[in-house]
Amino acid sequence: MNIRNEIIGIDTEVPCLDGQHRKYVFLDNAASTPSFKSVLKCIEDFMPWYSGVHRGTGFKSLLSTELFDSAHEIAGKFVGADLDTNTVIFVKNTTEAINKLAARFNFSPDDIVVTTAMEHHSNDLPWRKHAKVVHLGTTNDGHLDLNQFESTIRRYDRRIKLVAVSGASNITGYINPIYEIAKLTHKIGAKIFVDAAQLVPHRPVDVRVDDDESHLDFIAYSSHKMYAPFGTGVLIGSKFFFENGVPEMVGGGVVDIVTLDEVFWNHPPFKEEAGSPNVVGGVALARAILQLQEIGMDKIAEHENNLLNYSYEKLKKITDVKLYGNIGNFNSKVGVISFNIQGKHHALVASILSYEGGVGVRNGCFCAHPYVKHLLNVPADEEAKLIDEISTGNKSNLPGMVRASFGCYNNEEDVDRFVEMLERIVKNDYKGEYIINPETGVYTIKGFQVNLQKYFPMHRSSAATGEKKYPESA
Ligand SMILES: Cc1ncc(COP(=O)(O)O)c(C=O)c1O
Repeated sequence: MNIRNEIIGIDTEVPCLDGQHRKYVFLDNAASTPSFKSVLKCIEDFMPWYSGVHRGTGFKSLLSTELFDSAHEIAGKFVGADLDTNTVIFVKNTTEAINKLAARFNFSPDDIVVTTAMEHHSNDLPWRKHAKVVHLGTTNDGHLDLNQFESTIRRYDRRIKLVAVSGASNITGYINPIYEIAKLTHKIGAKIFVDAAQLVPHRPVDVRVDDDESHLDFIAYSSHKMYAPFGTGVLIGSKFFFENGVPEMVGGGVVDIVTLDEVFWNHPPFKEEAGSPNVVGGVALARAILQLQEIGMDKIAEHENNLLNYSYEKLKKITDVKLYGNIGNFNSKVGVISFNIQGKHHALVASILSYEGGVGVRNGCFCAHPYVKHLLNVPADEEAKLIDEISTGNKSNLPGMVRASFGCYNNEEDVDRFVEMLERIVKNDYKGEYIINPETGVYTIKGFQVNLQKYFPMHRSSAATGEKKYPESA
């Protein structure tokens, strides 16, 4: 199967500064992937049958319910969950899944959650909101320090209720030793949560049977990072855990019976999916999983490894490119390349790649500020200065990196265009006069503007189309 043929928009051309249109090279898959064609086709086929689910008696409701329920099953089995004892809860994305889990844990003031200094903010801030958090540090090149983990366990022992760790980093791509961490975690009677947003799209994942000492108790992932960008996130964990307690969000669909004084909760997952669910998103996710299984997760891992190898061989030869993290062992790394170009702002590099090369990457701190600052060696006094600057609305000096990230469909030609552009940037061989907007930290080209409405017309008043201060993401 040629995977590129399975991707929506693979041949889309985008406008560049020289007036040419170029085929878009999409290297921002760690943020979000394009859709599989099969997913869009499935949605189209499903729409004539679509109806609200659960308790509708009409045929369409019965059919939609059946599909939505089996989507849960497919999402659970995809990561090896035992569905007799575990429940699969659909939410909006990984962030919502983690916020739900953090709220449902019902921590006592003395309880500790151990997480790491390499996490995406989504696997850090929700824990900080509900518990005392201890962050495990990383080595100079950004790996988790397992010795520190063992000493943390010895120090806090049974006060630790949960260890929350990413399956793979969105900055370095490192795959963490989750099963080893699970074993150590279980020895002190704590549970483990794995943020698998960056792992599930790239590697076969198995949560293992419940009584295995390396079982992953809770796991979350997002459909928009696995070729179904239609708004479903997945949270999987013990039915028993979710049978207890009160959901953080309540309303329609979560109860068996309600009186004016009492509420009797339904079973999970219904209890945890308040309001009308995103049926289409759930079906889309299931179709994407079937497609990934058809391609083969092992094949995807092998292909992405080869692409990493191919890229690093080329990038290592460009003297002014500084690559972050260990670039040697691709078996323990997903397809993410973070780098900077000596003497060039990360936002400038990302803008030139886009405006002059038609290459889509991302730059900044990628919602993992502590980890990126660690890898960049930003000293504490500089960090304090930056906080001052940013609070006065100046983002010009925000530290960061450029990130290129692969999906299963990227190929060597994509890498060639990307590398060729970097070689040009290093030699200052670019045409635009780039200026930074201190408020947004984004570079644009003086005198050059693309009429976005021409490419996808939407009816928006001109007053609403000014330059925006978007939050950082992914
Ligand atoms: C490692 C990791 N965890 C969590 C998230 C959050 O995922 P979502 O945006 O789908 O909530 C991301 C998103 O980039 C991520 O890379």
